Amino acid sequence: MKVLANDGIAAGGKKKLEEAGFEVITTKVAQEQLSNYIKENEISALIVRSATKVRKDVIDSCPSLKAIGRAGVGMDNIDVEYARSKGLYVFNTPAASSSSVAELVFAHLFGAVRFLYDANRNMPLEGDSRFKDLKKSYAAGSELRGKTLGIIGFGRIGREVAKIALGIGMKVIASDSTKGEAEITLEFYNHQEIKIPIKTEPVEELIKHADFITLHVPSQKEPILGKEEFSQMKKGVGIINAARGGVIDEVALVEAIDDGKVAFAGLDTFENEPSPAIKILMHPNISLSPHIGAATNEAQERIGYELAEQLISHFQ
Ligand code: MLT
Repeated sequence: MKVLANDGIAAGGKKKLEEAGFEVITTKVAQEQLSNYIKENEISALIVRSATKVRKDVIDSCPSLKAIGRAGVGMDNIDVEYARSKGLYVFNTPAASSSSVAELVFAHLFGAVRFLYDANRNMPLEGDSRFKDLKKSYAAGSELRGKTLGIIGFGRIGREVAKIALGIGMKVIASDSTKGEAEITLEFYNHQEIKIPIKTEPVEELIKHADFITLHVPSQKEPILGKEEFSQMKKGVGIINAARGGVIDEVALVEAIDDGKVAFAGLDTFENEPSPAIKILMHPNISLSPHIGAATNEAQERIGYELAEQLISHFQ
């Protein structure tokens, strides 16, 4: 059976599939040629990250296709219900990248509160006039310890974010569909475990109380944070989005930063990927990364294994 890993697959997962007798093709096929390629090469399973779109037209025109695997969490690039209605096995790897995404949230947070991007750009060359009279006032930062982190969406990734936040002494409030207290388990390297209760609040309340807000929800029809929500937030709040573009109204975000309500935003995802709107791209108080939440060696290895395991057991 042939598997097309159109956005790549880590070495471990590829090897596991090959050992189980699959032929794994990692050629990158352009979106416009995808249906023809799958048909002509009689591909049985298609593995994608977020770049390749698997819409109704691909599903309808490829009778050999029996399975679609999403190397990651969000399945918004696949017509999942339609594919399932046609009998295809559609699956993702929900747990494999949570800690990598959570760590990227803190890369953005630490970078912003300590002005790392400005600091990089302001380093003087010897002989540069800035070298003699080095001003560091732009980098008057703040600590995360003691501040309140509001986590919107308390699934696997939100919970990993909470664990890191607690580890550095932040207070955590989470908003989730469940009401009342939530609990997370901190696991230490020596296998000790501690259960910590987490306060939950509806989004309308959380946004009023948080010093920093991070979103961990799937793609939404309407933004969760817009003009009204920004107006309710604390002055100087920082916003992180490593979930999906569209969960924040970007026009309202830029306005809220320009008004001084929001101090900064760290965005790994935005409405117009891969190139953000110019106002987002050029804004000095917005730090950007190109949707790399899951782009660590560890996450990709885990994703590769999970994909291989699920495909093998499905076809067996
Ligand atoms: C995901 O949904 O898994 C992440 O956004 C990462 C990715 O798309 O690669």
